[in-house]
Amino acid sequence: MRASLLLVQILYVCRYVSAQDEDYLELPEGFSIGAATAAFQIEGAWNTGGKSENVWDYRIHNNISLSVDNGTGDVSCDSYHKYKEDVQLVKNIGLNHYRFSISWSRVLPTGSSDEINKDGIQYYKNLLDECWSNGVTPFVTLHHFDDVQSLIEKTGGWSNESMVEYFADYARVIFKELGSRVKFWSTINESDVFCKVCAYLNESVINTAYRNRYLCAHNVLKAHARAYHIYDEEFRTIQKGKIGLVTNSGYYFPKSERDTESVDLAFDFEAGWILNPIFSKNGDYPEVMKTRIAENSKAEGLTHSRLPEFSREWIDYIKGTYDYLGINHYIPAMVEPANKTAEGRWYNDVGVIYTNHSEWKLTAMGWGVVPKAIGRLLRKITNTFNKPTIYIMENGVSFRSGVIDIDRVEYLYSYLKEVLLAIRDGCDVRVYTVWSLLDNFQWFDGYTQTFGLISVDFKDPNRTRTPKLSSYWLRTIIQKKKLIPFNKTMLNMLKLELCETFINWSDYGQNWNNNNIDKEG
Ligand SMILES: *[C@@H]1O[C@H](CO)[C@@H](O)[C@H](O)[C@H]1NC(C)=O
Ligand SMILES: *[C@@H]1O[C@H](CO)[C@@H](O)[C@H](O)[C@H]1NC(C)=O
Ligand SMILES: *[C@@H]1O[C@H](CO)[C@@H](O)[C@H](O)[C@H]1NC(C)=O
Ligand SMILES: *[C@@H]1O[C@H](CO)[C@@H](O)[C@H](O)[C@H]1NC(C)=O
Ligand SMILES: *[C@@H]1O[C@H](CO)[C@@H](O)[C@H](O)[C@H]1NC(C)=O
Ligand SMILES: *[C@@H]1O[C@H](CO)[C@@H](O)[C@H](O)[C@H]1NC(C)=O
Ligand SMILES: *[C@@H]1O[C@H](CO)[C@@H](O)[C@H](O)[C@H]1NC(C)=O
Ligand SMILES: *[C@@H]1O[C@H](CO)[C@@H](O)[C@H](O)[C@H]1NC(C)=O
Ligand SMILES: *[C@@H]1O[C@H](CO)[C@@H](O)[C@H](O)[C@H]1NC(C)=O
Repeated sequence: MRASLLLVQILYVCRYVSAQDEDYLELPEGFSIGAATAAFQIEGAWNTGGKSENVWDYRIHNNISLSVDNGTGDVSCDSYHKYKEDVQLVKNIGLNHYRFSISWSRVLPTGSSDEINKDGIQYYKNLLDECWSNGVTPFVTLHHFDDVQSLIEKTGGWSNESMVEYFADYARVIFKELGSRVKFWSTINESDVFCKVCAYLNESVINTAYRNRYLCAHNVLKAHARAYHIYDEEFRTIQKGKIGLVTNSGYYFPKSERDTESVDLAFDFEAGWILNPIFSKNGDYPEVMKTRIAENSKAEGLTHSRLPEFSREWIDYIKGTYDYLGINHYIPAMVEPANKTAEGRWYNDVGVIYTNHSEWKLTAMGWGVVPKAIGRLLRKITNTFNKPTIYIMENGVSFRSGVIDIDRVEYLYSYLKEVLLAIRDGCDVRVYTVWSLLDNFQWFDGYTQTFGLISVDFKDPNRTRTPKLSSYWLRTIIQKKKLIPFNKTMLNMLKLELCETFINWSDYGQNWNNNNIDKEG
């Protein structure tokens, strides 16, 4: 009786010790922690300094209800004027890198490289110089959702292959003008989402049974490869930077334990079809995607698959166009096979149904909080694509907890922990980037979603920034070079620091009450 009790105690101690180790994982040497923003979501100054209207400006100006709160990008965080303050905030948190994107319509107002807007170029030169002189490494994304409106009117959007050369010309201008100041480039961000929601002039064409969505991504992959080769051939030897693409990928858990097929399908139809052409040994889209879409297209009476085919030349041209693999990770889901439709077609081409697990805590976006998902994703990518170097370019959360964002600290802690465990298990992850530095314009959600490490007062003409508790937590982690779970001592220290920043801190944070602190103990 005594002996077994002792044994239980020893076992408990051992488990406790190893659990402790996992709670205080060290950051690997050279691991870079940063935060991200994107031009349209923070810059404002939509028509100043020679910038033309982009597709988001145009759509919002023509339909104020596009975002739920009638928000616009006209002023947003006003980072066009306040970039120096933003870089100071990045520096104060101690972040190693700052990821932002370039607004195509700010540097090439017609979309074409025939007309370069010097003021636009100068803005980005200033921002880059500000980063370097404050010890912050800039990570620059060439393309996000904000295409030049007049160019999209000319071409009809990314389902038109002529966008490939417009993008290639734009990329060349940017490498030439800014490349001496940039070591980390991303060509295109989240093409899977981009091609779903905003790549065309006429939004109703998105729904033509995914035809345009596939065409769009097809052209985006070509555009990425063109930019990669241009960098490789014309700039790399002098500028010595790295270049890659960034894709969104959630992670999927099977509803019935052994259903790995649904997990793989969900991966292939989201990240796999963007990654496989670039990172796999043979290139091209995943086989299963080609066959399912071909079957559905045939059932629809089409003579060709809705998924376009790459020529041999393009397959070879796209394959291997990377220095790293960039991912943005947010949404987990449970998956199960869908029955074929009454017409004998794969449901939604993929043939999989997505749901939330009933026990998942949901964020303000309605996305599950499942830290294990990021670790599983990193291992899956590592195994599928022969251990590429992975940069996590976005991960983060919208909660409505205001400035005392204990929930965001817990989220970042638990996700970072899974990232470090994946590295321990052999994944080559070098970069972790929080979305976002600032609360900002969140597309259709306007200003109702708050992803920032720093809150912005959008009612104040000065757009005053207030670092949230999570900024201070992150600073501690970066200084100590290891993860530390949230604890009461830390909270009290952070409370003091927050008090110095602003007096009325108890007005912020709906979560903030004494019961809550005691629980955190
Ligand atoms: C990448 O895509 C996400 C999701 O659409 C977006 O919120 C973010 O602004 C993008 N990041 C950059 C740097 O373009
Ligand atoms: C404006 O956008 C909202 C939200 O997407 C949509 O419901 C509405 O139909 C749009 N109005 C017009 C005139 O296009
Ligand atoms: C947005 O604008 C529309 C049209 O002016 C108005 O009807 C609606 O009440 C506004 N919604 C919000 C949340 O302000
Ligand atoms: C594609 O874009 C070009 C301009 O680059 C335009 O001349 C052509 O008409 C567009 N094609 C379609 C099908 O819209
Ligand atoms: C958008 O495309 C749909 C379907 O092809 C077409 O019926 C509609 O007229 C188009 N709208 C505009 C504004 O071009
Ligand atoms: C598929 O069909 C079977 C038989 O009709 C049914 O039992 C099952 O619930 C269906 N599955 C889904 C996900 O709808
Ligand atoms: C998860 O739940 C949220 C909130 O109800 C919902 O918006 C979202 O679509 C759900 N996700 C899935 C994959 O069902
Ligand atoms: C605007 O914000 C800046 C930076 O926080 C501050 O220095 C300045 O005093 C503020 N101006 C006003 C009018 O509040
Ligand atoms: C609590 O946080 C403080 C401040 O960061 C740290 O020094 C201390 O080690 C932490 N305590 C525990 C038990 O993790």
